[in-house]
Amino acid sequence: MDYQNIIVETHERVGLVRLNRPKALNALNDQLMDELGQALATLDTDDGIGCIVLTGNEKAFAAGADIGAMASYTFMDVYKGEYITRNWEQLRKVRKPVIAAVAGYALGGGCEVAMMCDFIIAADTAKFGQPEIKIGTMPGAGGTQRLPRAVSKAKAMDMCLTGRMMDAAEAERAGLVSRIVPAERLLEEAMAAAKTISEMSLPIAMMVKESINRAYESTLSDGVQFERRMFHGTFGTQDQKEGMKAFLEKRPPKFNHQ
Ligand code: CAA
Repeated sequence: MDYQNIIVETHERVGLVRLNRPKALNALNDQLMDELGQALATLDTDDGIGCIVLTGNEKAFAAGADIGAMASYTFMDVYKGEYITRNWEQLRKVRKPVIAAVAGYALGGGCEVAMMCDFIIAADTAKFGQPEIKIGTMPGAGGTQRLPRAVSKAKAMDMCLTGRMMDAAEAERAGLVSRIVPAERLLEEAMAAAKTISEMSLPIAMMVKESINRAYESTLSDGVQFERRMFHGTFGTQDQKEGMKAFLEKRPPKFNHQ
């Protein structure tokens, strides 16, 4: 596929997607998000891929939805046409693990896209924010919903109402990111984490992802019941037989992702 706004590579069982509109700090327009949706759907159905890394460049993961593209939209444009966030939910539909590797700005829609990933690894240069209020709008791709779940109501209110940015250290303290690494090692660390995941059993990794995501959508007792059924389901896989046999034989497992 010939993409204009993203770069897609595969490294063994890891798919790497780079947002690539550097002159606009990777501002997210419809073309970019359509391409991202297509690329993710392709990687998700590729049996040779076990994990996906989504990244930007050293200055920006993404500085938000493209303000130039949406400045003159009317209510009817965005409501009927679903411009701006039309294809964004594609990221949520990906069943394989997706890691966001964030350096520089992850603002507005950029922060929302990072939060749609399964976890965020941040460079020490990362800056997160939902500054939409400063340009007369508000988060429109899950920011007011995922941020409070990730960092508490108090911090989410602070971020969305003042529009201030959170640096990497604050983001880690607040639980928005799983780890911080030096900027020059960001991609290396994210790819290493993705490689580790991609070498696990893919169906089990998918069940883990589905179970953790269920924690957001259900009560504790429903979630625990869901997890138990998923756990039972692991015993229907060849990889569970191989993983436990390998442990008992004191050798590394050879998962076949079945
Ligand atoms: N949309 C379109 N273009 C953008 C952009 C955006 N969100 N963010 C940056 N750019 C462009 C700038 O217009 C500029 O282009 P030119 O060189 O052609 O003028 C280029 O990227 C570089 O930006 P700056 O010169 O502003 O760079 P800076 O280092 O001085 O500032 C910044 C960086 C603080 C991130 C600043 O660019 C900024 O505040 N950007 C906007 C952030 C924002 O408001 N994001 C939310 C958008 S709304 C949204 O995302 C809605 C939603 O929830 C779905």
